[in-house]
Amino acid sequence: MTHWIPQATQDGSYTFFSSEFGETFHSLAGAKAEAFQKFSEATHLAARAASPSLRLLDVCYGLGYNTAAALETIWAVNPHCHIELYGLELDPTVPAGALTPELLSCWSSPVQAILQTLGQTHHHKCDRLHAALLLGDARQTVQLLLQKGFQADAIFFDPFSPQRCPQLWSVEFFQAIAGALASDGILSTYSRSAAVRTALREVGLYIGTLAPSEAALPHEWSQGTVAAWRAEMLPPLSQMEQEHLRTRASIPYRDPALTDSRDTILERHKQEQQTSDLESTSSWRRRWKIR
Ligand SMILES: C[S@@+](CC[C@H](N)C(=O)[O-])C[C@H]1O[C@@H](n2cnc3c(N)ncnc32)[C@H](O)[C@@H]1O
Repeated sequence: MTHWIPQATQDGSYTFFSSEFGETFHSLAGAKAEAFQKFSEATHLAARAASPSLRLLDVCYGLGYNTAAALETIWAVNPHCHIELYGLELDPTVPAGALTPELLSCWSSPVQAILQTLGQTHHHKCDRLHAALLLGDARQTVQLLLQKGFQADAIFFDPFSPQRCPQLWSVEFFQAIAGALASDGILSTYSRSAAVRTALREVGLYIGTLAPSEAALPHEWSQGTVAAWRAEMLPPLSQMEQEHLRTRASIPYRDPALTDSRDTILERHKQEQQTSDLESTSSWRRRWKIR
């Protein structure tokens, strides 16, 4: 089994580094903080927790932090809320490798027990939670959810970055994911990429911004993106962000049959950018004084 080496982040919680994708699994500013801010808070879980039941989809389950933060958030408000949860994950050694005391200790005991069973057996069933990890390429496993007619109140969308894992940021993959988003559901992601935002809009979703923290520098204009079927649920994009969507950076990734390799998708994207007559992204950066 792959041996994952924990790496400390600035809030004291741990993450892993993937040598295959060349990235850490979380922001080094704080893995646990990121799970709460960019996923639970961005999808308004505390406000929705008064409901008797909620349905969650965790795309790229990894160490399970977004799931753990969601369970903590919902049950702090309403311990009786029944949760139906699916996690999509390619590599079972990641959730299994995240079950050490060092990694689990930042969660409450009931949530630690859930992460343990999910990491070991890929299922968890108790009176207030029905959860399953669907293992494999999310481009295929999402089809099982669509066949079931699963409709999520919140989708946590957390693949490695678009340049490293374009397979999971294409218009076609978002089309499938959007099919599992309830009419009043919210999807959140840490990505503020114009290509990602355009893909979400191409599938018919409205998009909003995750406002930057107070300490943010000018080039950190947003912490991510939220998407929904109704615009009024979302914080609007700034003028600068709207103009970003009219530059060459906004050309989305495409994967027509949901089977292409990373290299094929990146090459197709490069070709489309080279023949585009949209404004260059560097001129947009100069106009808005972004380094
Ligand atoms: C940025 S990490 C996710 C972090 C996770 N949300 C957490 O809180 O720990 C990306 C995850 O996507 C998984 N992954 C990569 N390619 C995938 C694919 N095609 N389908 C499903 N999961 C994939 C990786 O194994 C990794 O666990």
